[in-house]
Amino acid sequence: MYETFEELEKAIEGCKKCKLANGRTNIVFGTGNKEADVMLIGEGPGADEDRLGEPFVGKAGKLMNMAFEGLGISREKVYIANIVKCRPPQNRNPEDDEALACLDYLRNQVILVKPKIIVLLGSVALKNILGKEYGITASRGNWVDRKGIYYMPTWHPAALLRDEDKKIEFWKDLKEVKKKASELGIEL
Ligand code: URA
Ligand code: SF4
Repeated sequence: MYETFEELEKAIEGCKKCKLANGRTNIVFGTGNKEADVMLIGEGPGADEDRLGEPFVGKAGKLMNMAFEGLGISREKVYIANIVKCRPPQNRNPEDDEALACLDYLRNQVILVKPKIIVLLGSVALKNILGKEYGITASRGNWVDRKGIYYMPTWHPAALLRDEDKKIEFWKDLKEVKKKASELGIEL
């Protein structure tokens, strides 16, 4: 456990704790407001993120930004990170050993950011954070209140690219987040 972002970012530099280190260009640590009340957790970097070192800058990220804009959520006010910080080959899902190796960094990020709300983007984020017994289809759109943090599972933005119904549900879920944030006095 590191007490500051500087120490944590230094600790992750050159990380070789799992086999994803072999194929990466950049470690994608996280971005946004380090004191955010709302944090979003994705799966892992894709090609664009790997190249640029920042989460959600590719196609899925652009779609997420559009939803943010439509709902009046500022990307600068939230913090965004992923389950694994290095790109899985061919964008496959992170394997359990990789997620396990990387999760300590994310836990440390959560402790430092101290969000009140965490949005779980897709099945990989949901299962690694709340537990394998959770399924995204049944869980999305429903708040889970655990240890003083409100979790909102929703679709991964990449899933929206293929499915209009999911796009509508994703919007609905983010609207819920906006509503809860407003109830908690959080400005987005
Ligand atoms: N998909 C993710 O899960 N995370 C990113 O950063 C980009 C795409
Ligand atoms: Fe280290 Fe995480 Fe990258 Fe694996 S995915 S090498 S644990 S930073």
